Amino acid sequence: MSNQGGAIAVERDFQPMAVESRYPPPKGAIHPDRARSWLRRALPVMAAHKAMFLTALLMSFASLVLTLFIPLLLDKAITNSIIHRTVPLMFYVWWVVGLGLAGTATSYVSRLFLFETAFRIEFDLRNIIYEHLAQLSFPFYDRVQSGQLISRANSDIRSVQMYMAFAPMILVQCGIAVVAFGFMLAIDVPLALLAMVTMPFVVVLGIRMRKSMFPVSWLIQARLAEVATIVDENVNGVRVVKSFAAEPQQLHALARTADKVQWAYVKDADLRARFSPMVQNLPQVGLALVLLYGGYLIIHGHLGIGAIVAFNSWLLMLQAPFMMLGMIVMMGQRAAASAERIYEILDEEPTVLDRPGAVDLQHCTGDVRFESVVFDYGRDAGGPPVLDHFSLHVQPGETIALVGRTGSGKSTVARLLARFYDVNEGAVLVDGQDVRDLSLSSLRAQVGIVLDEAFLFSASIRDNIAYGRPAAGPDAVVAAATAAGADQFIRALPEGYDTVVGERGYTLSGGQRQRIAIARTLLVNPPVLILDDATSAIDVQVEQEIHAALATLLRDRTTIVVAHRLSTIGLADRVVLLDGGRAVADGTHAELLATTPLYGEVLAQADAAALNALDADDTAAAYGRTGVL
Ligand SMILES: Nc1ncnc2c1ncn2[C@@H]1O[C@H](COP(=O)(O)OP(=O)(O)O)[C@@H](O)[C@H]1O
Ligand SMILES: [Mg+2]
Repeated sequence: MSNQGGAIAVERDFQPMAVESRYPPPKGAIHPDRARSWLRRALPVMAAHKAMFLTALLMSFASLVLTLFIPLLLDKAITNSIIHRTVPLMFYVWWVVGLGLAGTATSYVSRLFLFETAFRIEFDLRNIIYEHLAQLSFPFYDRVQSGQLISRANSDIRSVQMYMAFAPMILVQCGIAVVAFGFMLAIDVPLALLAMVTMPFVVVLGIRMRKSMFPVSWLIQARLAEVATIVDENVNGVRVVKSFAAEPQQLHALARTADKVQWAYVKDADLRARFSPMVQNLPQVGLALVLLYGGYLIIHGHLGIGAIVAFNSWLLMLQAPFMMLGMIVMMGQRAAASAERIYEILDEEPTVLDRPGAVDLQHCTGDVRFESVVFDYGRDAGGPPVLDHFSLHVQPGETIALVGRTGSGKSTVARLLARFYDVNEGAVLVDGQDVRDLSLSSLRAQVGIVLDEAFLFSASIRDNIAYGRPAAGPDAVVAAATAAGADQFIRALPEGYDTVVGERGYTLSGGQRQRIAIARTLLVNPPVLILDDATSAIDVQVEQEIHAALATLLRDRTTIVVAHRLSTIGLADRVVLLDGGRAVADGTHAELLATTPLYGEVLAQADAAALNALDADDTAAAYGRTGVL
């Protein structure tokens, strides 16, 4: 255990992590001007794919034009080949087949490109949102529900993408309908007008149908999200649910929500059943009128039979786009609402970011200084701030223990040093430089923080430890694990360092997770190290075992340990007691014990809490330690 200092090579100048993101950046961005309409803000994303999109529209147009000519051929075939028999029938048959094939080919290309465009837009929107989320700061994540964020982003992107890609296509089809109407007018003006009598009703009915269905479909979405949330909580919170034997309660909640979904679906089906037959059959009235008046024209010799057959074909072509007009209205409403929610995320500015001209923190010696820092999380303004003119100076290489009651702001101190948040007043300085003047990547590379909640990724233990330094060799990983007291139990696992930990590392005990988290930070070998309650779940025996290793590790770096245990406090050169947002006492353990009654109180409290929280064998160990106290 003595060589870990050597194995983890000391390399203290900052080098950015040499991993590139895998995807090319999205070609378009959402326009930042909030005054613009949602569609105009989204236009650049669409414009980035305009070549493909315009090809799709053009091909769609071409295919529709081709099919427009088929009724015309039908008319000619009936008139010339069947009635007058002047042209061989096969002539027209071949033409129809030819046009049909050409129409199929163009329609194929158009669909292919349209869907490709739609998915590219979706891909870009997803990347734009994800990149933005990656930049957003902690205050944002403190506020939002991550589950909602993810599920909403998915369905909202989908509805925006659908509208952007398919609405123009429907408009092209409507344009073709106008041309078809032109053909109809050319045959007989009064007949064409008569045939169109029902069209306004079809449009109005379609819009009314979508309008009354829109809130219901919205409701379905919302209710489905509720179901998803409950299922998500049941899966993620399964340990809590089962420990309270609350499965029936959870199932009841799920059943209630599922009932609501069912209600919404039935309502939706009801509305569909009411409107759809009307929307679909109303055009038949138009056909009847055409038959009536057209038949009259034919009987009196004003119109050929072929003409009326062609006429009917065009009329049928007209209907679909007009019905879809109602759909555009609905899609538009939904896309607008979705876009607003997407923009809500994109318009959120990162609050903690590199200022222009920020410099990299190089060759950090580890001098840490809090200068009269005032900070609160900006929520319950009015109360006293979490840190109230907090000052602290830690010398390079020094180890201090930060002690205080729960909620006294110990974790806050740690977070401010890594600049998860910016101070309201005062300053946090590393090597004499305000952390706000340093680049975040260099600061966070030099200030290693082991959080109280050890989050592990669903990857192998090796990858988890090498997270901050993916290029690290196996020896370095093992050395870091050894220093954190994790090597032994990792080797005992069935696949050793290649064991994949379950989601969030639940296949490991809390203490094991913490040790891996410590190894992960040690591997980066930061000159400034913060252990925020990082040893709380490690049982005392193990802590004792890794004590020597920890002591060696802490020797050549500045360390702040948030601690309650005497054993951990014993590692520190100096103890700082935090209370009321300030450092109220500062000295060695013995000095504080002698001069500050609060110190003893806090330790005793922490001890009682620890006794309650620890599991059986830890408790036994803790009893052993009570003797020491
Ligand atoms: N993300 C947060 N948003 C709002 N308030 C917070 C947040 N984190 C902590 N607090 C509040 O700040 C105070 C200090 O918290 P913290 O620094 O975590 O205390 P400690 O680590 O000493 O237990 C507490 O009153 C807590 O409620
Ligand atoms: Mg804390």
